[in-house]
Amino acid sequence: MIKKVRLGVNIDHVATVRNARGDIYPDPLRAAILAQKSGADSITIHLREDRRHIRDQDLKIIKKKLKIPLNLEIASTREMLSIALREKPQFICIVPEKRKEITTEGGLNLNYKKKNLKKFIKKLREKKLRVSLFIEPNIDDIKMSKLYYNADCVEIHTGKLCNLVNKKKNYKIELSKIEKAAKLGFSLGLDVHAGHGLTYESAKILSKIKYINEFNIGHFLIGESIFYSLKTVIKKFKKIIK
Ligand code: PXP
Repeated sequence: MIKKVRLGVNIDHVATVRNARGDIYPDPLRAAILAQKSGADSITIHLREDRRHIRDQDLKIIKKKLKIPLNLEIASTREMLSIALREKPQFICIVPEKRKEITTEGGLNLNYKKKNLKKFIKKLREKKLRVSLFIEPNIDDIKMSKLYYNADCVEIHTGKLCNLVNKKKNYKIELSKIEKAAKLGFSLGLDVHAGHGLTYESAKILSKIKYINEFNIGHFLIGESIFYSLKTVIKKFKKIIK
């Protein structure tokens, strides 16, 4: 069974706030270093095609200064591949990306341009970068992630469950889907992660699934830090997921 559960802290929203004023603060690097100091096991940033939050320079400087692994979320485009191969963050998470979405709306469609995606993953893995696929909690996607794509990890999209929890609706079916997917992923030798929409409450629910060994959390964590500081919130999440 899983020994240590890791917390990946997504700092995109620090950049969002900075960019809202077109200024140089708050600085995402400062947030990354403080998160590292406060117990984060990795830092996640999403370099979007439109650079709406994290920018190329953020990636460069954070990669240079950070001691814990940097997890770079990217869409499977040629541009992102060349950036990833050049900057070499230790972890890559491949996500779907739509220009108009506010945030990543769902998992990857693993049946779309399969050969391209497979090549994309192979090139990253050849450079020893850990590759994760952001997918919906379904059995076929778990099998394909390992058996066809040869990914190192999957990150299960938890958005649906988190919405149900937030609205105080019945989340049992969604939880069981996530649990089954995580169990299968674990048994196939995948590292199983979870992310999207997580709060203290939903993280607590998912922490009971013993096959998940990494949580990636951003929006709620950064929002809560306005009131309680990054350090306090990271420590609280670490306690919940361990
Ligand atoms: N994991 C992935 C793959 C994501 O795309 C995101 C959102 O950028 C997250 C985790 C974090 O989600 P949230 O900001 O809702 O915590």
